[in-house]
Amino acid sequence: MSVVKINVLTVPPEMREELEKRFANRAGMVESSDGFEWFELLRPVEGTDRYLVYTRWRSEEDYQRWLSSRAFQAGHAQASADRAGHGHGQGGGPAAAASEIWSFEVVQSAGPKTGGE
Ligand code: HEM
Repeated sequence: MSVVKINVLTVPPEMREELEKRFANRAGMVESSDGFEWFELLRPVEGTDRYLVYTRWRSEEDYQRWLSSRAFQAGHAQASADRAGHGHGQGGGPAAAASEIWSFEVVQSAGPKTGGE
């Protein structure tokens, strides 16, 4: 059964552009991780002001393996570099002011019907 892991990011308004820029320059390594199924960066429009980093995995184990991998570290290198040094304003820090992880099991899914010519 696939699992969905969503990293929920609280981003100050003045950091939104920076956050999106970082994702635009992301490492792109998650795509090569075993069991990876999907990624989306979701920009809030209505109902919340938090960004969602949506990921879907073949299994919990595949997600856990990616979390402890070099690919995960590489995918978060920019964020870490900022944390360590030349950050924004006092004390630096990543683009997101806070984050939390939401976990789901995929109960049902559907896509558009294909080949209907
Ligand atoms: C401390 C918490 C986290 C923060 C603040 C954070 C923030 C970020 C940022 C700013 C990027 C853009 C790349 C960069 O700046 O290096 C990124 C990449 C990414 N993040 Fe996170 N992240 C965190 C943990 C997680 C977790 C637990 C997940 C699991 C759902 C996740 C999923 C991703 C994915 C899939 C990418 C793209 C990596 C790639 O292209 O290989 N992040 N994250």
